[in-house]
Amino acid sequence: MNILILGSGGREHAFTLKLSQSTKINELFVAPGNAGTAQIATNLAINPTDFEAIKKVVINNKIDMVVVGPEAPLVAGVHDFFLSDADLKQIPVIGPKKDGALLEGSKDFSKQFMQKHGIPTAGYRSFTNETLEAGYTFLETLQAPYVLKADGLAAGKGVLILNSLEEAKKELKEMLTNQKFGNASATVVIEEFLDGIELSVFVLTDGKSYKILPSAKDYKRIGEGDTGLNTGGMGAISPVPFTDEVFLKKVEERIIKPTVYGLQKDGIDYRGFIFIGLMNVNGDPYVIEYNVRMGDPETEVVLPRIASDLLDLFEGVADQTLHEKSFEVSPQTATTVMLVSGGYPEAYEKNKEISGVALIKDSIVFHAGTKKESDKVLTNGGRVLAITSLGNSIEEALETSYRNIEKVHFEKMNYRKDIGFDLT
Ligand code: AMP
Ligand code: GLY
Repeated sequence: MNILILGSGGREHAFTLKLSQSTKINELFVAPGNAGTAQIATNLAINPTDFEAIKKVVINNKIDMVVVGPEAPLVAGVHDFFLSDADLKQIPVIGPKKDGALLEGSKDFSKQFMQKHGIPTAGYRSFTNETLEAGYTFLETLQAPYVLKADGLAAGKGVLILNSLEEAKKELKEMLTNQKFGNASATVVIEEFLDGIELSVFVLTDGKSYKILPSAKDYKRIGEGDTGLNTGGMGAISPVPFTDEVFLKKVEERIIKPTVYGLQKDGIDYRGFIFIGLMNVNGDPYVIEYNVRMGDPETEVVLPRIASDLLDLFEGVADQTLHEKSFEVSPQTATTVMLVSGGYPEAYEKNKEISGVALIKDSIVFHAGTKKESDKVLTNGGRVLAITSLGNSIEEALETSYRNIEKVHFEKMNYRKDIGFDLT
């Protein structure tokens, strides 16, 4: 089969590598990809939300399946675009249609969905500029800290956690009246604060059945000890040690089943990944958020632990035979450490030459923000490389990642030296 993967990060390099190992693969394409995907697939210089350009390359390259990495093309309706086009409608897209993508595209929608299907989540109410005063009154009924969420996509920045009522009211007005996040904060969800330990669980579903993929924990803050600004993710670990069988059973019964069957009941034909952000509150799971894609860098630790053929699973998603597919996970631990550009997540420079990657033998180097220029590999983003290792323990895997990082160099390279600090 010929497969097209949309996206350009470490997640997409991990998809590309895993799919390249499938016996069913003929040719692999990535749009737009990075220097890592270029080594094992053909990069196509198109934007993943330019549907007409995607159509052209799909037809020209006789693509048999499209795998969508990031949320933007899903929320913009890439799957619906395929279904409505006579030339494309037979080609399966791994990723939900617009209706399912709303689970990530609208916090208000996802809260309503959870409430309707009895899925445990923080209590909440939604407000608009017209109901600002009612928002203030609702805030007064809550205890600090206060959680405000822009309803729409806000590049991961739309959630504010505030310690005082005054600040919370001020920010609510900023979001609703002054459009702090543009149209994304035209509606704001205010919810109760959940106090616990965060983790993520990933589900692959064909709309009827599902496979539970390995759990993972990512490290979102730039600074050691989980301090400083939020990033896309500075590292990840899989599995999460405190997710024992008892906890995972609760997640499956209370969250995964009602989510998959709730989508079905609501007439939403969902085929793709569901990334469930969870809070473990004294042993009970609550949903913090849904994403309609895999996480990045979580994918870089989840996929290397999946022993089964990923393309075989995707075919099951496409033709709703996922329940027939075998699914095996390695018992090993995977860790990944992100190497980022100095300054990230604020302003940073690009086009720094990367050296030393070829010296790494016992870790997998996933490219994130990189590009190839003549025979050099240059930095091309905030998150540059993810160094993934497998081991018999978190310590062993981390030791391998950190040992190999020593071999890599680019100007102003930065990384967290304490990934897994809270778990080891
Ligand atoms: P989200 O974009 O919804 O994942 O929110 C970003 C981050 O805010 C999450 O990863 C949590 O760390 C935190 N967060 C979101 N909602 C809550 C909540 N209700 N209680 C505590 N922390 C939260
Ligand atoms: N690492 C978090 C995310 O992909 O949303």
